[in-house]
Amino acid sequence: MSRSAIDLRSCIRDIPDYPRPGIVFRDITPLLLDAAALSEAVRRLAAYGAPRAVDFVVAAEARGFILGAAVARELGAGFVPARKPGKLPHETISAEYILEYGVDALEVHADAIGHGANVLIHDDLLATGGTARALCDLVERLGGHVVGCAFLAELAFLGGRERIAPFDVCSLVTYDSETA
Ligand code: PRP
Ligand code: MG
Repeated sequence: MSRSAIDLRSCIRDIPDYPRPGIVFRDITPLLLDAAALSEAVRRLAAYGAPRAVDFVVAAEARGFILGAAVARELGAGFVPARKPGKLPHETISAEYILEYGVDALEVHADAIGHGANVLIHDDLLATGGTARALCDLVERLGGHVVGCAFLAELAFLGGRERIAPFDVCSLVTYDSETA
């Protein structure tokens, strides 16, 4: 099979009723196990970033780290980990986002992104967009320019794209409903 013929969607496993009844969990671990699919995913995410003169990839702990650093390496860009509160040792800035039950936050080092830097946002999944919106807000507060947001998968029926507008969004696999 040629690399361009790899169907990434078929490499993502559906787990019904996880983590609770009615939710279909999109499990990317089979894709990670498949060397050709992993390479294809990184290549395509990087291809989206390539014309955007990316200086840094910013990705969300934890699953965003898996492909994010590989995409940065492919682009010749730096990598900025956005971590859960209290994990980064130096001065940080923080952005909160709403979960179904409660609030969480992500932090980046305050000196992570230089003023005027071009930043590609990455996460494995765009769902409601809360996580990605927090990443965009952190980048802008540090004076960076969000030049695009690249996701492996998108749950389009949850409206994440609208949440992070006007920033441009690329997703390699799109789900139009919970079960489709
Ligand atoms: C998942 C996923 C995205 C986020 C998407 O992360 O990896 O980061 O949810 O949801 P949203 O668009 O509604 O914000 P999760 O918070 O489960 O944590 P993890 O990456 O540490 O597993
Ligand atoms: Mg996550």
